Amino acid sequence: MPAAEGRALMLSWFQRPKAVDGGETAATEAPPPEPGAVRPDMLDEFPEPLDGIGNFDLPRGDDFEFEPGEEALLAEVAAAVAKGEFDLPLIPSTHIALLDLTSDPDADVGKMDRLISTDVALTAALLKTANSVLYAGTRRAETVRGAVLRVGLRGLRSVLLSLSVRSVLFKTNELAPLAEEVWRQSQSVATNARALAVPLGLDPERYYVLGLLHDVGKVPLLDILRRLAPRDRELRAPFIGLVFDRYHEEVGGKLAAAWNLPEEIVSVAGCHHDFERNETHRRSAALVHLAHAQDLFLSSGRPSEYAALATSAAMAELGLAAPMRTGLLDAVRNAYVQRLRDAAVA
Ligand SMILES: [Fe+2]
Ligand SMILES: [Fe+2]
Repeated sequence: MPAAEGRALMLSWFQRPKAVDGGETAATEAPPPEPGAVRPDMLDEFPEPLDGIGNFDLPRGDDFEFEPGEEALLAEVAAAVAKGEFDLPLIPSTHIALLDLTSDPDADVGKMDRLISTDVALTAALLKTANSVLYAGTRRAETVRGAVLRVGLRGLRSVLLSLSVRSVLFKTNELAPLAEEVWRQSQSVATNARALAVPLGLDPERYYVLGLLHDVGKVPLLDILRRLAPRDRELRAPFIGLVFDRYHEEVGGKLAAAWNLPEEIVSVAGCHHDFERNETHRRSAALVHLAHAQDLFLSSGRPSEYAALATSAAMAELGLAAPMRTGLLDAVRNAYVQRLRDAAVA
């Protein structure tokens, strides 16, 4: 399928009624943070930090010491970003066709069944999701049709987008450990954002997709690093963190626009760290900012910083009264732990 056709098809799949938008009115109604919102026993229920390459997030304002060659490489990355010299990866055509079908409430399940069944990875992911704790019924879903009926069109859309991001992240083996961490973080932030959406009365699958794609700018940045990094030396995680921190929003906004994604995703991918500066989708940007901070503290074993999110600016932006905030932190921690369990049995 030509790229232009694929992009045109993507126009319709994320359309939603206005009513499910988070709205931008809560900022002025947010109650003042209360230190008492931090519950001490939260510290006893915390997951173990993850092994592996770890989180690339570089706290803003931290001093960064360049090692030899890194400053020159950063300048090359900056030039490539400024000139737009990066591939904008395309998602598989089967996925685009299915995404388009999921936007049609009268879509033919038989047609979806046939399309899904041509893709082994998609079939496996769909069955796994349908039988996960989030959707599981009294009997296992054993067929594609049964799985589609159980997860619904929105659930299918989340599965499709997860696989699409995965396929563009892992198109080569180069820098695979870095791609693994970007992938883990995308899924985790998506899960956290979905868990945040439920008690806030927002559409969970919409925020799952927003969480999944908010850092999509890291995908082309990995491509740039694959192309420019010297072959004889490993890239240090803090250096990757610096590259991501400086450029992933700019590149993410461009990629989301090139994929013709909905304006909300383009806006949030382009501006979520300083969410107060997001003029069109400030509350959504705050929600994914919070979901990302939750992943950072959960995955790196920092319980007191996690608990302190109850009084963060992002939490205040969501407009929840202080007593509800610890419940929100608990719900996300539970969803985070459940996702790890689901991943472990996969
Ligand atoms: Fe980000
Ligand atoms: Fe992020």
